[in-house]
Amino acid sequence: MANLFLDAVAARRTCYDLDGDIPIPESHIEQIIDRLLLTVPSAFNGQSTRIVLLLGTHHYTLWRIVKESLKPLLTEEQFVKSARKIESSFASGFGTVLFFEDRRVVEAQKARYPLYADKMEDFTSQSSAMHQFALWTALADEGIGASLQHYNPLIDDRVQVHWNIDPAWRLVAQMPFGMPLSAPDEKVQHTPLAARRIFFRE
Ligand SMILES: Cc1cc2nc3c(=O)[nH]c(=O)nc-3n(C[C@H](O)[C@H](O)[C@H](O)COP(=O)(O)O)c2cc1C
Repeated sequence: MANLFLDAVAARRTCYDLDGDIPIPESHIEQIIDRLLLTVPSAFNGQSTRIVLLLGTHHYTLWRIVKESLKPLLTEEQFVKSARKIESSFASGFGTVLFFEDRRVVEAQKARYPLYADKMEDFTSQSSAMHQFALWTALADEGIGASLQHYNPLIDDRVQVHWNIDPAWRLVAQMPFGMPLSAPDEKVQHTPLAARRIFFRE
């Protein structure tokens, strides 16, 4: 079955081995982000996802902040290992996308739809995940590798101050991206397909 969308979904993988030389201009990445923000769904069309794109020195600064934030929490040996990973897998890329959720929107949605108030936190992260997945896949479709990282909440305060981020925006995930230098290993399927789905026919 030929399906370009499913091919793109399959091509999206976690890429750690990144280089800063990407095949498309910055403006193209900005356009992808804009299109996704306008089209990816959200509960009650609340549009709670916020995105910050860090390129150039901004990208390097983020990963310096991550290293500095980790240092006091790790042994020297652990830190050397983490710093090496951060440098070769994240900072070595072209840029980083930060995903936030706007807490003002989430709280307003809870007040506006009281019947769904207890679902709104889940809905918000589900919508954020859809944005993350869509961007990850769209980047892969352009030949760009990325991974999904979660150094929040460790870095939240420094990120907010450094980039003067609205305090109502809560950091959800970081997506470093760049040119993939190696192909990912074949994806391990831990659970057989038959145990993961049920098809009812007729
Ligand atoms: C919700 C979610 C959270 C993840 N968090 C991390 C993370 O913090 N660090 C990381 O290196 N990978 C993270 N990953 C990547 C997964 O480890 C990866 O997607 C999984 O091993 C499957 O590999 P693939 O992405 O190549 O298909 C996350 C993935 C998802 C969907």
